[in-house]
Amino acid sequence: MAASPAPVAPVRSLDDWIDENVELLQPDRVVWIDGSRAQLDALLHEMVEEGRIIRLNPEHRPYSFLARSDPDDVARVEARTFICSEQEHDAGPTNNWREPEAMRAELRGLFAGAMRGRTMYVLPFSMGPVGGALSRYGVQLTDSAYVVASMSIMTRVGDAVLDRIRAGARWVPALHSVGAPLEPGQEDVAWPSNPVKYICHFPETREIISFGSAYGGNAILAKKSFALRIASVMARDEGWLAEHMLLLRVTDPRGRRFHIAAAFPSACGKTNFAMLRSALPGWEVETLGDDITWLAPGSDGRLRAINPEAGFFGVAPGTGRDTNPTAVDTLWGNTIFTNVALRPDGDVWWEGLTATAPEGLIDWRGEPWDAASGRPAAHPNSRFTVAASQCPSIAADWDDPNGVPIDAIIFGGRRAGNVPLVVEARDWEHGVFLGATIASERTAAAEGTLGELRRDPFAMLPFCGYNMADYFGHWLEVGTRLRRTGGVPAVYQVNWFRKGADGRWLWPGFGENGRVLAWIVERIAGEAPASDTPVGKVPAVGTIDYRAAGVSDADWEELFRIDEAALLAEADDTDAFLDRFGDRLPEAIRRQLAGLRERLGER
Ligand code: GTP
Ligand code: MN
Ligand code: MN
Repeated sequence: MAASPAPVAPVRSLDDWIDENVELLQPDRVVWIDGSRAQLDALLHEMVEEGRIIRLNPEHRPYSFLARSDPDDVARVEARTFICSEQEHDAGPTNNWREPEAMRAELRGLFAGAMRGRTMYVLPFSMGPVGGALSRYGVQLTDSAYVVASMSIMTRVGDAVLDRIRAGARWVPALHSVGAPLEPGQEDVAWPSNPVKYICHFPETREIISFGSAYGGNAILAKKSFALRIASVMARDEGWLAEHMLLLRVTDPRGRRFHIAAAFPSACGKTNFAMLRSALPGWEVETLGDDITWLAPGSDGRLRAINPEAGFFGVAPGTGRDTNPTAVDTLWGNTIFTNVALRPDGDVWWEGLTATAPEGLIDWRGEPWDAASGRPAAHPNSRFTVAASQCPSIAADWDDPNGVPIDAIIFGGRRAGNVPLVVEARDWEHGVFLGATIASERTAAAEGTLGELRRDPFAMLPFCGYNMADYFGHWLEVGTRLRRTGGVPAVYQVNWFRKGADGRWLWPGFGENGRVLAWIVERIAGEAPASDTPVGKVPAVGTIDYRAAGVSDADWEELFRIDEAALLAEADDTDAFLDRFGDRLPEAIRRQLAGLRERLGER
C-alpha cells in the first residue's frame, strides 16, 4: 500500500460538523444509519407507504423497487459540477472552477433551512472493505431516503465505519440536500429536487457539497464525487491511482489467472466487459468491479487493485440476454430500478431487455406508454442499483482488502475509425499517451476524414479532481516507480466500435470480445506473436480466430487498417487538445505525439 497519507488540514470532529449543519439546515429530525437490514427494510417500506417508490411484484422481482425521478433530474449535471481549489489552475482547463470561499458563501445561503420539514440522515460509509489498507471513509448527510437506500447498496455503510471514525480514522465530509424544504402542511412530491443544482468539491480540504439533485452521481456522493474526484487528489498526494475502470480476473484454459483493469468512457462498455461471458471455450472471466478501481503499488512492487464500491449502478437500456446475460441474472431481485418502464404485471422493462416491448407499459414518467410516440419507455439513462455480491460472475474474493495484482491496463473508446480493434502499447509512456488521447466521435468519421472528437482522457474528463496535465504527470511517475520494482503492467487499447463504410459495426463485440482478451493474456504470457504498426503492436496474422466470430477477411483487415492521412489529421486535433494545458503538460506526452507522427511517415 502507498506511503502514509499526506498531512491535510485537520478535519472538524464529526459531532461538531453535524451540529453545525443541523443548525444551518434545520431538519425536523436526525436519523443515524446503522447499516442493519432491519433499518433499511423499514426505510424502504416507509418510502413505499409515502408513494416515493413502487414495490415491484415479488413473484417476478422479489424485494425490488422502482423509483421515478423528476423529469429534470435524470443524469449527472457536468455544467453544475465544480472543483473549488484555491487556485483556478489547480482545477485545470477541463474542470469548472469556483473560488472556494465565494462558493461556500453561496452554498450557505442555499442550505439555510433547506431540510425544514425533512429528516437528516447521517450515513457513515467506507470505500473498500472496512479496515483495508486501501480503504477510505466518508460521512454523507442527506435528506433523501432514496440516496440512503442507494448508498446502502453501493457502499459499506453503518456502525462498523462509525467505529473507525470514532477511533480517529480520517473521513471525508459529504453534505447533500435535495434543496426542497417543506413548509408546515405543504404536500410533498415523490421526487423532491431543486432547479438550482451544485455539485462542489474542495480538493484541499477534501470536502463534498451537493445541492438540488437526488440522481446518481450528483447525489450518491460516495461514487463519482468521492471515489473519483476527491480520491484522485488523495491518490496524487499519496502515490496511488483512483480510476474510472472496471476490474476483472480472467483464467485461461491452463488455469493461469490474470487481472485486468480497463478504462472506457461512460456508456462505452465497462459493465458489459466486466461481466463478459467469453465466446472462447475454456476461458473464464470473473467480475471484480464495473466502474471504479483504486490501484496502488504494493509491497511486492506490483500494482494492486481494489473495487472500492459494493454494488453496481448500471445503465439499464441495452442490457439483455443476448448482450449481457450476467447482468440480467444479477437483477433477479433485491434491486432498485430508476426511470425504467413498469409492466402491468408489476415487473419492469426497458429497451433492449427483450426484442419487443410488452403490452400495457407505463413509461418512466408514470404515463401509459404509446409505442407509436417514438419516445422510449425507459429513460436512456435509466439505471439499476444492485449489490455486487448478487452477480453470478462475481469473484469469491472480490472484497479482499489486499486487492489483486494487475497484469494489464486497457484503454477503450467509441471510435468509428482510426483506432484498431486492439493495440499493444510500446511501453508505459506510450500507454499513458494512449490513455491521454481517448476520444469518441461526436459525429461518425467519414472515410479518410475526421469527425469532431470528444476528448475523454483516461475516461476521467468529468471525474478528475485536479489539473489533468498534472494527472498525466502522476501516471508517468507511477510508471517510473513501478519500473524500479519490475512491476509495470502492460498497456492495451481496444475499440469495439469501428464501423465499415456502410456504417455497420465491423466487430460483433460482447462475448466475442473474449477473443481479444485471450490475445492480450497470451501476449502477457509471452505466447502470442504481434506485428508492429505506427500506432502500436497488433495481433499477428492467425493469432485471433476472427472467422469463428463471424467476421469476414475484408472486415478483419478494415478493423486494423492504418489510414495515414486520417491519423495525421487526428494528430493535429490531438495537438490542439494538448495545447489547452499549456506549459503544465508533461514533455513525455508531446514526445509521444511527435513519435507517432514520425512513425506515420510525416517529414
Ligand atoms: P457507465 O456505467 O455510464 O460508466 O458506462 P459503461 O462503460 O459501464 O457502459 P455499459 O457497459 O453500460 O455499455 C454502454 C453501451 O455500450 C450499451 O448500450 C451496450 O450495449 C454497448 N456495448 C457494450 N459493449 C459493447 C460491444 O462490445 N459492442 C457494441 N457494439 N456495443 C457494446
Ligand atoms: Mn461510470
Ligand atoms: Mn457501467
